[in-house]
Amino acid sequence: MEVIVAKSAGFCFGVKRAVDTVYEQIEKAEGTPIYTYGPIIHNEEVVKDLEEKGVQVIGENIPVSDREKGIVIIRSHGISRLQQENLEQQGFRIVDATCPFVKKIHRIVEKESQNGSAIVIIGNPNHPEVEGIVGWSSTPAIVVENAEDLEKLPDFTGRKVCIVSQTTFNYKKFKDLVEKIQKKGYDITVLNTICNATQERQVEAKRISASVDGMLVIGGKHSSNTQKLYEICKKECNNTHFIQTTDDLDPAWFGSSDRVGITAGASTPNNIIEEVQTDVRFKF
Ligand code: F3S
Repeated sequence: MEVIVAKSAGFCFGVKRAVDTVYEQIEKAEGTPIYTYGPIIHNEEVVKDLEEKGVQVIGENIPVSDREKGIVIIRSHGISRLQQENLEQQGFRIVDATCPFVKKIHRIVEKESQNGSAIVIIGNPNHPEVEGIVGWSSTPAIVVENAEDLEKLPDFTGRKVCIVSQTTFNYKKFKDLVEKIQKKGYDITVLNTICNATQERQVEAKRISASVDGMLVIGGKHSSNTQKLYEICKKECNNTHFIQTTDDLDPAWFGSSDRVGITAGASTPNNIIEEVQTDVRFKF
């Protein structure tokens, strides 16, 4: 049986970089406490493994004032300037693993707001990445997630407007919202800051699932991006299965398959993908 593993399966560049940073810091720590600002990734096993290695999670709702001073690693989503300054003022050393694509948005927002532009961020206002981006604007940034939010936009006549996007926002929705704002005739600069890692993963999953007679999608039960991958693959290949680990593999699935494809959601570590790949080769 031929097993094809998607190259884009699992961690994107930014998440991989952040997770690697934590493991590197553990190696170097020599007793210095290590914290991550929020869980480094939405994967319980990885977070548990880090916890066992002494890494503690802190965050907005987890006070740090009583903690022993140490290193705080910023995850790929990034944080606001104020949060970063607060940590530094309290004596923590920051190791910034903000994804460079997110960092780029921080810089744009910082510079454009300082130059007097109004900042509009297309994204989910409750997502930590967006909360972080908002916090790099020198003036109050406005977050727009849907058409209803456009109603609440102030009148920007006479002001420059800079529009950016959350990295994981849907491109079509971004385009629609931008077009609606443009119709108002303001002086607008649009910067499409959507990252294509998610789209690349989906395009590859579609391509592979269309060419195989069995397909596995690995990821957390509650991971929406994995669910989306599953839907895409299921459309192309009816024999598609959603699994979390090798324990979920059923030998009945690919008994008569010649080619099986594997992809994985954004929070699935490489070792799980490798284990599944090995098991598929030997079990079926
Ligand atoms: Fe990942 Fe960075 Fe893109 S965290 S999804 S590579 S913006």
